[in-house]
Amino acid sequence: MKVTARKPVIAGNWKCFHTHLTAIQVVQKLSYQLDPSDYDATEVVVCPAFTALRSVQTTIESDRMHIRLGAQNVYWEPDGAFTGEISAPMLAKLNVSYVIVGHSERRQLFGETDEWVNRKAKAVLANGMIPILCCGETLEQREAGETASWVAGQIAAGWQGVDPADIARSVIAYEPIWAIGTGRNATPDDANETIGSIRAAVAEAYGEPTASAVRIQYGGSVKPGNIADLMAQPEIDGALVGGASLDPDDFSKIVRYRH
Ligand code: PGA
Repeated sequence: MKVTARKPVIAGNWKCFHTHLTAIQVVQKLSYQLDPSDYDATEVVVCPAFTALRSVQTTIESDRMHIRLGAQNVYWEPDGAFTGEISAPMLAKLNVSYVIVGHSERRQLFGETDEWVNRKAKAVLANGMIPILCCGETLEQREAGETASWVAGQIAAGWQGVDPADIARSVIAYEPIWAIGTGRNATPDDANETIGSIRAAVAEAYGEPTASAVRIQYGGSVKPGNIADLMAQPEIDGALVGGASLDPDDFSKIVRYRH
């Protein structure tokens, strides 16, 4: 049994899946399968598409569920003529607790830069929410031995100008790009090693107390069958789960990995 003061956070990233109607069903079924001891042990987060946030929020609140609400993206300006964007104050008003920033799909498919990711993280923090800052290397970078320096660079850029106290309450998601949606996950040892290197880089830049407080998740083909081995690693503080979070049976098994 590992001993850490950090409460694990397991978050479901639903990506561009589930209408608001199916999202309500998923969160209801998920809640039904979890009990208070699960929430004591782990923070449980679902990150629906923007169109389902309000419905999932009201479902969570009317049934007094302990599931936390997350968003998958945000724009950094509070308001203005930015057609199609959603701001941090809009998310905060929906009682969103967590916001994913810099997911590799946004970086690769939508051209998000480190500078944008940094602005987004700051907007999330300024509005009282917790950013889940994503980092991760390509297969080529891994094979070239560049993983640790690459992810440390992404983290440093994402947190530029952010107060260490804010970093301490934030979440980092280490998601090797080659493991996302491929069924090919990093071995628990490899994930632990890279996450340890991220924590060491955080310690060097912001001090030991910040590094020992920040929670670092693993993401990339997390499933009911591999979560327990990942969570047994001392550096891994939870998971960011894509495909397997869409199904409440699978996601509840992941949350209940201790059973
Ligand atoms: P996956 O996605 O679990 O489907 O690999 C993880 C993610 O992209 O956050």
